[in-house]
Amino acid sequence: MRLIADQSGQIRRSAEVEFTFDGAAVAGHDGETVAAALSRAGRLALREGPGDGGPRGVFCAIGVCQECVVLLDGARMESCRLSVRPGMVLERVPSGR
Ligand code: FES
Repeated sequence: MRLIADQSGQIRRSAEVEFTFDGAAVAGHDGETVAAALSRAGRLALREGPGDGGPRGVFCAIGVCQECVVLLDGARMESCRLSVRPGMVLERVPSGR
């Protein structure tokens, strides 16, 4: 429950940039993490669990758990520690990897 008036309109954001995740365009703000931008876009499931294939996403948000890993140019990157850059192309880690 919000106890004070919504003040989100007062937040000054950096420039909006666009990147892709699994071929879909996603808007982010320059300098924010990929995990934050994907979360705002409603993309909470970032990969599939190796055992049961269940959806995995941001858990620790500090680069420890590896639950948020995505592929950038074929390399595994922690989306919670990766800053959004214009035009970056990200993909899900294929199931079983
Ligand atoms: S959420 Fe744990 S490493 Fe990114």
